[in-house]
Amino acid sequence: MPEYTLQARVPHLYTKIRDKETSPVDFRRYAQRLMSIICEEALCYVSGQEKTVDTPVDSYTFPGCEVDQSNIVAISIIRAADSMLDVFMNIVPECGVGKILIQRNEETAEPEMYYDKVPPLTGKKVVLLDPMLATGGSAKAALEVLVKKGAEQKDITFVNVVTCPEGVKNVMEAYPDITMFSGCVDEGLTTKKYIYPGLGDFGDRYFFT
Ligand code: PRP
Ligand code: URA
Repeated sequence: MPEYTLQARVPHLYTKIRDKETSPVDFRRYAQRLMSIICEEALCYVSGQEKTVDTPVDSYTFPGCEVDQSNIVAISIIRAADSMLDVFMNIVPECGVGKILIQRNEETAEPEMYYDKVPPLTGKKVVLLDPMLATGGSAKAALEVLVKKGAEQKDITFVNVVTCPEGVKNVMEAYPDITMFSGCVDEGLTTKKYIYPGLGDFGDRYFFT
């Protein structure tokens, strides 16, 4: 496991959400803790700017960073990503919000697009949220909407909890200039297109279905 992954830094949280014995309430609680860390890191990446501050100690300074929260639009791929959106909106209360309802067909794993309500994105920093990136079909369908709404690929950051090589390749081949911010890249996809080792169906576990 590469040391720089979020999973390597907070393995206790990943262990909880991957464990099939974890209760629904605990799954939700640990997933929220994890998504909070991912969203904070992604936010700093999306719009962090250098800032040096004076500390209260003598004349010491700290060369740090501040986040410009204006101009950010968060996009949720309903349903599972509504969990991340809640977390993100607590961190960035002034962000704009868009929603896209896409459901993977349970037989074919192909994305089915039902609805979108997305504000104009020209000139915006766009944070696309979805905890799971499997085949990449849902993400590509969402990215198509974002680009049509005026987002530039270089201004889109796609944030996930778990991905896999197939999904990353599929999305990056179609949208090479976006940024992907993922907590970990798992080994692959099962024949039913579930990520392995994975965590199962994130939405079902998070929303108790
Ligand atoms: C899950 C997940 C992604 C998608 C990933 O949602 O939240 O949106 O599957 O799979 P893909 O990369 O193969 O497209 P799902 O459609 O199962 O619906 P849900 O959000 O209601 O759980
Ligand atoms: N969606 C999930 O929630 N989990 C997977 O493994 C694949 C798609």
